[in-house]
Amino acid sequence: MAEERRTRSTEAFFGRRKGKSLRPAQAQVSQELLPRLKLDLTRQAPADLGALFMIPVTSVRLEIGFGGGEHLHHETGRFPDAGFIGVEPFVNGMAKFLSRLHEEPRPNLRLYDDDATQLLDWLPDASLDGIDLFYPDPWPKKRHWKRRFVNPANLDRFARVMKSGARFRFASDIDTYVNWTLLACKAHGAFGWQAQSAPDWHTPYEDWPGTRYEAKALREGRIPAYLTFIRS
Ligand SMILES: C[S@@+](CC[C@H](N)C(=O)[O-])C[C@H]1O[C@@H](n2cnc3c(N)ncnc32)[C@H](O)[C@@H]1O
Repeated sequence: MAEERRTRSTEAFFGRRKGKSLRPAQAQVSQELLPRLKLDLTRQAPADLGALFMIPVTSVRLEIGFGGGEHLHHETGRFPDAGFIGVEPFVNGMAKFLSRLHEEPRPNLRLYDDDATQLLDWLPDASLDGIDLFYPDPWPKKRHWKRRFVNPANLDRFARVMKSGARFRFASDIDTYVNWTLLACKAHGAFGWQAQSAPDWHTPYEDWPGTRYEAKALREGRIPAYLTFIRS
């Protein structure tokens, strides 16, 4: 099983690791802060994920591919009693977020700077209260659709680590990805879609701060969809 998971996680990552060089101040903040906040996956995960945080937490949520961390910073402040794990393998995104954390730290946050499938495979069964996946890399060309983060193997991972009743939120501005995710979740069977009518999925989540990628999509005239699924 461990071998099978390792193989699948290697196959799953198609994103970019690096952009332009970091500014010296950004590089220094990253060097100082990331080792303190980064999860060490060579150690066994604690049975109670609350043990990962500097303060007591009442629930634990995960954001995958947080980009520059606009939403994650907002959400960690909005829910100071919840613990958050943020994953972002793109060095420049992580550095941007760490600079923000340097100014405004969050005691209820841990980070991971590689493929989220590795983190998912490390987590105990039924340990998460929510997973957020906002504007994942769209892979719009049909021949690349199999690279999308939402796929049967990753939905199996989500189903394993989410508690019953936990929430999976998915936002995208790419119609084919939205349909793809609706179909994949329906086919999987462990995720019930919450929408009653069209306005539900065109309405941003409560107290939604937006993300950098979303702002670009809106500028370019694309309309986002905001899906919410509940783990059965
Ligand atoms: C289009 S960007 C969106 C970023 C951010 N959520 C936003 O809305 O601004 C997608 C992000 O997912 C990250 N990503 C891609 N593959 C990933 C993986 N396997 N695990 C974690 N993050 C991943 C990329 O590095 C990138 O920052």
